[in-house]
Amino acid sequence: MNLNQHKIYLAPLRGVTDSIFRNVFEHYFGNFDFLLTPFIPTVKGTIVNPSHIRDVLPEQNDCTRVIPQIIGNDPAQFLILAHALLDRGYQTVNWNLGCPSPQIVRKMRGSGLLPHYDTIKWFLDSVLPHLRCPLSLKVRLGYETEQDLLKLMPLFNEYPLQEITVHARTGVQMYNGVVKLDEFQKCSSLSNHRIIYNGDIVSLSFFETLTERFQSVNGWMIGRGVVANPFLLGAIRTGTHKRDVARLHAFHNDIYKLNREILFGPAHLLGKMKELWSYLAQSFPEKPKLLKNILKVTRVDQYERLMGEVFGE
Ligand SMILES: Cc1cc2nc3c(=O)[nH]c(=O)nc-3n(C[C@H](O)[C@H](O)[C@H](O)COP(=O)(O)O)c2cc1C
Repeated sequence: MNLNQHKIYLAPLRGVTDSIFRNVFEHYFGNFDFLLTPFIPTVKGTIVNPSHIRDVLPEQNDCTRVIPQIIGNDPAQFLILAHALLDRGYQTVNWNLGCPSPQIVRKMRGSGLLPHYDTIKWFLDSVLPHLRCPLSLKVRLGYETEQDLLKLMPLFNEYPLQEITVHARTGVQMYNGVVKLDEFQKCSSLSNHRIIYNGDIVSLSFFETLTERFQSVNGWMIGRGVVANPFLLGAIRTGTHKRDVARLHAFHNDIYKLNREILFGPAHLLGKMKELWSYLAQSFPEKPKLLKNILKVTRVDQYERLMGEVFGE
């Protein structure tokens, strides 16, 4: 396998892979080829408030590799937000057609749009002629069934899309159950666009299984796998895997310090760190009670003491 031809993308995990995470991760564990941001909702009105796009302001983002993701179903609002991002230096935007959260689906956004072929067509017809940059999509196989994407792929072929990331699950699966590789294969084989595979890449061996099976795919998006095991990116790039607890320690401390500066109140800070640990605890298989103990913490001093024990300070 010639890895040079493969591009590795960071998947967006809202609440986890914000700009602090993205920058600290790359400092310690190496660069992704591209990083998709957690979704930014479209907003009413003609002005985009900088606080709404704080996470993607160019001061803390490499606009050549970071791709802002937008969620919404209103073409005019989408264009206003996309152009505000372009004005700040971005070169492309991504449209979220995958989010399965019931509040989002109810509003016919994210994966809630996938059964609505005509609405998606109307949206693309309304947006693409006016959008001053390439558009990529992040989709699931469908909302309830992969029939949605099987119907949509020929439609997508009619538009000059940059690429399509396919999370190989349906919306109703949320993040559970297994990825549907046969359905991914069927859907991706219908596309003329560059397809990026996403879903459950948590080990070098599964990555190798996928690259072996899907020879025409050369883009791979990884989310929970790299948060749980930050060394996975390097393992995929070099073929070898080595855990270095000192590096995990420094990575954790930077994320903690930077969040402490911007999050007001211990509840926010602890909530943020608990969310990170809900994945990162998997890097400590020798401490099976670690996550349970972290989730019990209610005070910052307790948290810091526990971290001292975890990292042997
Ligand atoms: C907590 C959480 C937040 C997520 N936020 C987003 C998001 O903002 N935009 C998006 O397209 N996908 C989002 N996803 C989906 C992931 O990007 C990805 O498609 C999914 O987790 C499967 O990939 P993985 O197994 O590599 O994590 C989220 C997933 C989780 C678990």
